Amino acid sequence: MQIKKTLYLILTACLSFILFSCSSEKNEPKLTSNITDEVKKAGIELISENCSGCHIASKQGSFSRISAIRKTPEGWDMNIVRMMIFHGVEIEKSDRRKLVKYLSDTQGLAPSETAGFRDILERKHNVIEPTEDQDLMNMCARCHTYTRVALQRRDVNEWQNLVHMHLGQWASIEYHMLARERDWRADALGSVSEKLAKKYPFETEAWNEWQKTPWKDMSGEWRIIGHIAGTGDIEGTMSISKAQGNDQYKTSFTLNFPKGEKVTGGGKALVYSGYEWRGTAKLNDVKYRQIWAASSDGNSMKGRFFKKSNPEEGIEITALRKQDTVHTIMSVTPSSLATRTETEITINGINLSGDVHIEGTKITVKSQTPDRIVILATAESTPDQSSKVTIGKSTYDKAFPIYKAVDYIKITPEYGISRVGGGGGATAKVKAQFEAIGYLNGKDGVKGTKDDIRLGMVFVTWSHENFNEDAAKMQDKKYAGILTKRGTFIPAIAGPNPVRKYGTNNVGDLRIIAVYEKNGVKLTAEAHLIATVQRWNNPPIP
Ligand code: HEC
Ligand code: HEC
Repeated sequence: MQIKKTLYLILTACLSFILFSCSSEKNEPKLTSNITDEVKKAGIELISENCSGCHIASKQGSFSRISAIRKTPEGWDMNIVRMMIFHGVEIEKSDRRKLVKYLSDTQGLAPSETAGFRDILERKHNVIEPTEDQDLMNMCARCHTYTRVALQRRDVNEWQNLVHMHLGQWASIEYHMLARERDWRADALGSVSEKLAKKYPFETEAWNEWQKTPWKDMSGEWRIIGHIAGTGDIEGTMSISKAQGNDQYKTSFTLNFPKGEKVTGGGKALVYSGYEWRGTAKLNDVKYRQIWAASSDGNSMKGRFFKKSNPEEGIEITALRKQDTVHTIMSVTPSSLATRTETEITINGINLSGDVHIEGTKITVKSQTPDRIVILATAESTPDQSSKVTIGKSTYDKAFPIYKAVDYIKITPEYGISRVGGGGGATAKVKAQFEAIGYLNGKDGVKGTKDDIRLGMVFVTWSHENFNEDAAKMQDKKYAGILTKRGTFIPAIAGPNPVRKYGTNNVGDLRIIAVYEKNGVKLTAEAHLIATVQRWNNPPIP
């Protein structure tokens, strides 16, 4: 115990050095009319009360370290939780929420600064981060995602302070694989901190401009379209009304899910940094969360609607504000047309009016409202072309391919992970969702080249097999879980399984197989699934 205490004191002394070693006055946050003086005063009071014991206050109202960094709402919340776990900070839940809000509004990220890194923020499962700089990935993305790094803005001294924190907290950081073959400490404090400060500096034109941009009133009538992987497209409407101030709203939804399923519900939302829409809603009694971003003009939103209990299960959505002057086609379902059969196609949008026209097809309109047009289409001319969809004066901004037969299919993700869970344990099962996409080879007739044409989701028969001999010996297929008709892998229950060899967990190494059959064409595709163990630590930005 005594040794533990001494170690803690040494560590705290080291960290305090990190804390006070930088002056923050030059990074005074600049506030605009989006944030009233009252809100500003309340925010500074909260920091004074909860943080200024360790973070020195300046006369101008800034605090050492705190005022020198910009982050997302999730980044700020994780930071405060870290202060609680590492440094014993005690803060009321409601104060923590208010502080995250204040810090995100005054020291957040501009829309363009988060644009390339939203997948992980939106809790998309089984995505592989873009590798723009392999060395940075080796240095900073082997314990957590690179998104965690790329969604922060600091100057070089603050990137260095962060490296010092890592070295102090996780002393083995220098001896891990990919670290011990180099002088990790020198590189992290030197070239890596410099590179990060150039890529992600505290002061940016984007944030300065964004702070001058008045926050938009999000209330109004909205049209939503979306996609559920493996299942199909959704569409519907959303009403947003003001609840309080310029950032709190109430929502209600009327949605049409695939196979005619009607889904309704409502909830509330809070907007951070003027565009980061965070909402909760109940849809047909299932709790959902929303992590969306509004466009800078406040007329569109994009993001994910996902189940609170299972963030991996979600809908990727686009929402557009209904305006009299807007006539837009938002989605066409299905997204391509086969030549031989008459196909029912639903076109969703805003203020759709006029004749429906799809190049190379004969059309009969079944029903037509300003929101939605249902047609029966038969292809008449040259297949394998990317056709255009127009309604009156509106043209759909995506190509609508007409094809004779699918050339090949691909499964997404090609490499997936599921996790055991449930069974009264602390973590829920994490499912893996697969989807088969049809393609044409394109003009060059070669599969997998740039000119290939994506046809959209195709219905396939799903099955799974042991990935290799080792998996077969362990009977992974039998124990790891089941694969549904919609390509959802539902992992088995957590905990040791007494009937398995060594009484091991229900983990497995599996091959996922999709078979597509239509008009005598048979196509297959494969993916790899690792059915693995729980993840115990699930921070908002993994
Ligand atoms: C008991 C002392 C203590 C209190 C109280 C405290 N902090 Fe800290 N804070 C530290 C220390 C030590 C560090 C440097 C080491 C680290 O990052 O963990 C730090 C670092 C930070 C950093 C820099 C983190 C980074 O990403 O590099 C921020 C921002 C921060 N604190 C915010 C806060 C906020 C907000 C509060 C109030 C809710 C708070 N702290 C309260 C001790 C404290
Ligand atoms: C040895 C594993 C490891 C490596 C390597 C690593 N990190 Fe971390 N990092 C962590 C852990 C653990 C946390 C704290 C997680 C938490 O509090 O949830 C963290 C937290 C962070 C945070 C959030 C801090 C805050 O309070 O906002 C940032 C940003 C970050 N790391 C950036 C980096 C950068 C930049 C590098 C490369 C120089 C790096 N990490 C390398 C393990 C690592």
